[in-house]
Amino acid sequence: MNNLNDSHITEPGRRHIRIIKSVNLYPSLLSQVAELERVLQGDETWSEQTLTKTLASEYAFIVVMFADIGKATEDKTLIGYAVLSQVFELAELYRIGTHPDWQRQGVARSLLNKAIAYLKDTQAESLQLEVRADNHSAIALYDNLGFVELYRRRNYYHTARGGSIDGVVMELKLAE
Ligand SMILES: CC(C)(COP(=O)(O)OP(=O)(O)OC[C@H]1O[C@@H](n2cnc3c(N)ncnc32)[C@H](O)[C@@H]1OP(=O)(O)O)[C@@H](O)C(=O)NCCC(=O)NCCS
Repeated sequence: MNNLNDSHITEPGRRHIRIIKSVNLYPSLLSQVAELERVLQGDETWSEQTLTKTLASEYAFIVVMFADIGKATEDKTLIGYAVLSQVFELAELYRIGTHPDWQRQGVARSLLNKAIAYLKDTQAESLQLEVRADNHSAIALYDNLGFVELYRRRNYYHTARGGSIDGVVMELKLAE
């Protein structure tokens, strides 16, 4: 992780995807991510402070996707993000989200594929995550990418109506 440099490619359709280790080099980034979190994640929202604290770790990184919305260089809008960590062979996906206007257009798949390629390059052997059992779109995304269910955290989440929902722990093997 220590030799992680920011990497950057441009995708067709004028989308730009980037892995960022040093978030302090991008002063307004985490407030934009926090705003998307607020829109997307309901009760589970991570604040800018939590994002900052998490990404201060030498093991954590964020993958972001911007889209051009005008001709000027600064006319870019954040359309997706994924927050991960890698400790030696084990990687974990903490957060992922796509702006509502950009969903079902391959944004999350691209973010995860970018992270997975990087993790394979850095000898990670496994990428794990935990998702609410009722988050069908996220589970469909992970299934689509080859993640498999490892086990469930029974009644891990509590609903406003006093019910509970399992957390599903999933894994993608990155090495044979
Ligand atoms: C889950 C989420 C990140 C998916 O982002 P996205 O950019 O729309 O996903 P993609 O377009 O890359 O979808 C890739 C594949 O995932 C599956 N998928 C994604 N959204 C889906 C949905 N709403 N219903 C069914 N399948 C879905 C499909 O297999 C899709 O492939 P396809 O479009 O070719 O059928 C997005 O819905 C989101 O931000 N949700 C709120 C935040 C959240 O729940 N994060 C995960 C917490 S663990």
